[in-house]
Amino acid sequence: VQQTYIMIKPDGVQRGLVGEIISRFEHKGFTLKGLKLFQCPTELAEEHYRDLKSKSFFPKLVKYITSGPVVCMAWEGPGIVAAARKLIGATNPLQAEPGTIRGDLAIQVGRNVVHGSDSQENGQREVALWFKDGELCEWTQEITPWLRE
Ligand code: GTP
Ligand code: MG
Repeated sequence: VQQTYIMIKPDGVQRGLVGEIISRFEHKGFTLKGLKLFQCPTELAEEHYRDLKSKSFFPKLVKYITSGPVVCMAWEGPGIVAAARKLIGATNPLQAEPGTIRGDLAIQVGRNVVHGSDSQENGQREVALWFKDGELCEWTQEITPWLRE
């Protein structure tokens, strides 16, 4: 089963959108494997967004992500990496479809409330980057037969 790293960014926490965003993933039927409120250090933000290092907005991005606590989550489910990106919507919230998290809850790319891994490889990489051994929970979601035949 695929895993992905979802993170509610500092604006989502400050705006009180934590419950709303978690609900979107819960209601869809995915399985929560890890969850914590966390003040991200600069080095971790830089490592997480290392592919964007050359972009002009990189310093602003690191400042944004470290500007307050984030909610770190590991979610699991079939096809979850692509499905989570669909639930989240386009990077620019003004281009994100209504019904998506960014489409419903944000107006600017520099304050787009949530992150989702963009590939299976990055899903694995980011879950390992943000969670220590023992922070993820192995559990049986008893409603699984009502979600998957
Ligand atoms: P993430 O899920 O956060 O990785 O977003 P994404 O995959 O939709 O976009 P991408 O990985 O290309 O960019 C990462 C983050 O950098 C975005 O979510 C934005 O917060 C920020 N970002 C991207 N492009 C811009 C930009 O042009 N200006 C600013 N200020 N921020 C940007
Ligand atoms: Mg990205």
